[in-house]
Amino acid sequence: MSRSAHPAGPRHADVLPEGHYTAPAADLNVLDPKVWAQTVTRTASGSVSVGGIDVASLAEEFGTPAYFVDETDFRARARAWRTAFGHDADVFYAGKAFLSRAVVRWLHEEGLNLDVCSGGELTTALSAGMPADRIAFHGNNKSVAEITKAIEVGVGRIVLDSFQEIVRVAHIAQSLGKRQRVQIRVTVGVEAHTHEFIATAHEDQKFGIALADGQAAEAVRRALTLDGLELIGIHSHIGSQIFDMAGFEVAARRVVSLLAQVRDEHGVELPEIDLGGGLGIAYTSDDDPREPHEIAKALGEIVTRECEAAKLRTPRISVEPGRAIVGPTAFTLYEVGTVKPLEGLRTYVSVDGGMSDNIRTALYDAEYSVALVSRTSDAEPMLVRVVGKHCESGDIVVKDAFLPSDLAPGDLIAVPATGAYCRSMASNYNHALRPPVVAVRDGEARVIVRRETEEDLLRLDVG
Ligand code: LLP
Repeated sequence: MSRSAHPAGPRHADVLPEGHYTAPAADLNVLDPKVWAQTVTRTASGSVSVGGIDVASLAEEFGTPAYFVDETDFRARARAWRTAFGHDADVFYAGKAFLSRAVVRWLHEEGLNLDVCSGGELTTALSAGMPADRIAFHGNNKSVAEITKAIEVGVGRIVLDSFQEIVRVAHIAQSLGKRQRVQIRVTVGVEAHTHEFIATAHEDQKFGIALADGQAAEAVRRALTLDGLELIGIHSHIGSQIFDMAGFEVAARRVVSLLAQVRDEHGVELPEIDLGGGLGIAYTSDDDPREPHEIAKALGEIVTRECEAAKLRTPRISVEPGRAIVGPTAFTLYEVGTVKPLEGLRTYVSVDGGMSDNIRTALYDAEYSVALVSRTSDAEPMLVRVVGKHCESGDIVVKDAFLPSDLAPGDLIAVPATGAYCRSMASNYNHALRPPVVAVRDGEARVIVRRETEEDLLRLDVG
């Protein structure tokens, strides 16, 4: 297996064997549409453009490193999810993948809802005009201040993550004279990784309330008795970068059996289930992600079938894709600074960013692709490792890839599929300045998150 993936919890050892790399593509100048945003293309002059604008002029105007988001592609993917799930289901974009006010507006315009997991994400969503009732509030340790604000502004649902939180949210809602719509996040004993899943009785991680040992059923019982809460459903999220629908199938079956148990014990049919996010994208040409309509069809069929078997009304389904919407829509543009061949090993290509703008390779052994984008080249492929400028050897952006052997300082290279969990997990390590996010559409480019400046760093450092 050539990919690594992990759930929203501990790091998993699903990594490549040492020294692994795939063979070079037949022609390094060809951009695989699987991994590049929709409007990215190589122009007649040999350089690459996005949204009709050449990367060289983007680099000149906005500098490097920088993230460029293909707005057309983002909107198309958001719309595809919305259309695939139709009117009987809701799509909540997971803001943790990447959130900015422009993105919130695009989502709003395309009819999507929003999943936030912190006060900061909530504020961003509200300040860009997302109606509060279309926001779901997540988190395993929401603060009293966050819960209070979420209830005051009227978020559509709070996803309860522990027994203590059930009481906490109920108490705060009641003291505000409100009844808050909530879901309970359950852990279904399914851990999904890219092409496989493991179904176990227990999960050793921090999120949710276990279905095992009747704990989730007890959580439902408690939530139903509290005046401050209106329990609307059950939530499950099984992992990230998943291609295999079998994990969702087991999760859906287990959630539906809880709904049946709730009906039998309390005479209540909960109207909603949320199956979370986690759908995989192509980081390299080896990855084959599912299309939204296939996912919608598969999930709909599983839930309908299980509900029919349990003689339950089919609940309204919601999903929370983050990576699958924004991931493929952006690339990071870097300038090559040094090229260092290590005889018999590989060539290290150092760029002007690194683990501060993409921590995923260091953190998860994530795989990425890379291409020379400022020109074409017919030189032989060379095995490279694209590294950053940070003071540690784990500062790797692309572990194994091929670039033309005439690569030189000043060339622009781009890493595709960096829309999700790159800017949102960026850091100021070594006092790096976090790169801007530039949206490109129909020949126009505009900064949606500006580049940090040294003044920004000094502003936080009060001396
Ligand atoms: N819903 C819930 C409750 C989640 O915890 C997550 C992700 C999502 C939805 C969205 O998952 P997505 O569709 O984006 O896979 N930093 C990691 C990913 C952590 C995901 C955390 N939760 C990475 O860079 O791969």
